Amino acid sequence: MLNSFNKYSKVNSITLHSDAEQASVYVAQQIAELIRQQQEQGKPAVLGLATGNTPKRVYQELVRLHQNEGLSFHNVISFNLDEYYPICPDNDQSYTYFMRKYLFSHIDIKSHNIHIPHTDFPPHRILQYCKDYEDKIVSFGGLDLQLLGIGRNGHIGFNEPGSTFDSTTRLVNLHSLTRQDAQTHFGTIDNVPLQAISIGIQTIIQAKKILLLALGERKSEIISKALKGEISTQVPASILQTLSQVEYILDRDAAALIQD
Ligand code: PGA
Repeated sequence: MLNSFNKYSKVNSITLHSDAEQASVYVAQQIAELIRQQQEQGKPAVLGLATGNTPKRVYQELVRLHQNEGLSFHNVISFNLDEYYPICPDNDQSYTYFMRKYLFSHIDIKSHNIHIPHTDFPPHRILQYCKDYEDKIVSFGGLDLQLLGIGRNGHIGFNEPGSTFDSTTRLVNLHSLTRQDAQTHFGTIDNVPLQAISIGIQTIIQAKKILLLALGERKSEIISKALKGEISTQVPASILQTLSQVEYILDRDAAALIQD
């Protein structure tokens, strides 16, 4: 770790690492520590999990900790942030597929403890489905830890610019930049779904601990806006500036515009 500082934000901390590898391993260690602490107390660890390029190395390290260092996930209850709508869970572009590929099929989490929005159902069921997802998180006492990436437009989950800070799980329209960034994954822009189900900003900010991981130069501009800019629904991640339970974990490139 290079250093830890809170120069821009009055309440939360920024942990700066020299590269993506170190930052990712650090995040995996934070998650592992929480899981072990909860185990020692005989409690579940309720984790909010993210998808995308950013957490891949974190998950790889968690798998390594499971395989080589005996980290068990038997007490883990997971809730993923979001999923494209509509998409079949078996589709290799779905986040269900992603989570299986990068994490769940390599660890001992119980399948009934995994929650990822399933979105292969008709529109009339969406409202109830979203309410049930939200209620389920509450029924486990809320999220102990939420892992976040950040979109280049400042989204957290699929809470796109304009999402209100009191939003809960719902159907959202994807922002053009989000769809553009997903293009490589889907082949062409026309294949990228127009909508998604995402947990809300209110759901996220109620987590007891929030780790926001940002890696690489392409995130430097939005990191600067989210951490130093005004708090605005136009940059959804900016709300995190106000919360004491937030830690931003950045590599040197992502932090390029917030260092003197
Ligand atoms: P990425 O996406 O990790 O693929 O950059 C992050 C996000 O959109 O939250």
